[in-house]
Amino acid sequence: MSAPLLEVTGLTRRFGGLVAVDDISLSLQPGEIMGLLGPNGSGKSTVLNLISGALRSDAGSIRLQSREIGGAAPHRIARLGVARTFQLVRVLSSLNCRENVLAGLAFGRRSFWGHAAGQRADELLARVGLAGRAATMTGELTYIDQKRLELARALALDPQLLLLDEWLAGLNPTELQEGIALVRSLRGDGVTILLVEHVMDAIRSLCDRCVVMNAGRKIAEGTADAVLADAEVIRAYLGDDDA
Ligand SMILES: Nc1ncnc2c1ncn2[C@@H]1O[C@H](COP(=O)(O)OP(=O)(O)OP(=O)(O)O)[C@@H](O)[C@H]1O
Ligand SMILES: [Mg+2]
Repeated sequence: MSAPLLEVTGLTRRFGGLVAVDDISLSLQPGEIMGLLGPNGSGKSTVLNLISGALRSDAGSIRLQSREIGGAAPHRIARLGVARTFQLVRVLSSLNCRENVLAGLAFGRRSFWGHAAGQRADELLARVGLAGRAATMTGELTYIDQKRLELARALALDPQLLLLDEWLAGLNPTELQEGIALVRSLRGDGVTILLVEHVMDAIRSLCDRCVVMNAGRKIAEGTADAVLADAEVIRAYLGDDDA
């Protein structure tokens, strides 16, 4: 096996008395798609927030290509090639689609400026299915198109590692199939992907491996089929712990 692109060890984050992320370790090989699963409130988004630098950990390490990024500022982590989307879509509503992507292009691994940036922005919009929408104001976009735009802005950073937080949630069946194909095509381009997801079809068809969390802890790791058949995972999803 080659060296991991991302290696998380003993990651822990508390909010007051709550241990939202409790001693989580996981590693992603280059080009891998890993699913991060678990019931509501199990700590998945917090893991992504720690990796992207939006939050600081209380313990543990996060290494990108063997380099410690835990505790670094979000813009530095972005420059090293880590991009993300948010569970609640965040686009800049006072800007049009091209301007949203330009905002990402200025801060990535490779910076684009001027004419080259405009061209690159339009390419990325086409890539996510927003060809011809460059001048559309973000507020006029449907929900799925806002998600597409947020992905284009993440791709503008030219990421090695893409963190998707329920990017496929809320799509209709046709959109879901398009979304799955799009995520797969990104991997085809060499992007390594950690995706938080509840949509089982997407998990089964995309993920090489999955890590399942419950109440902050890792309770299972393996192929989608294996973890989804795991008794402790099923118990966690059915909510026995809370009953
Ligand atoms: N900024 C915060 N301040 C206080 N508590 C937080 C904060 N962020 C998350 N939490 C708490 O940490 C726990 C884990 O939250 P997190 O958002 O990581 O879960 P999740 O697995 O992404 O859930 P969901 O599937 O609902 O998105 C929850 O109990 C949540 O209320
Ligand atoms: Mg979440």
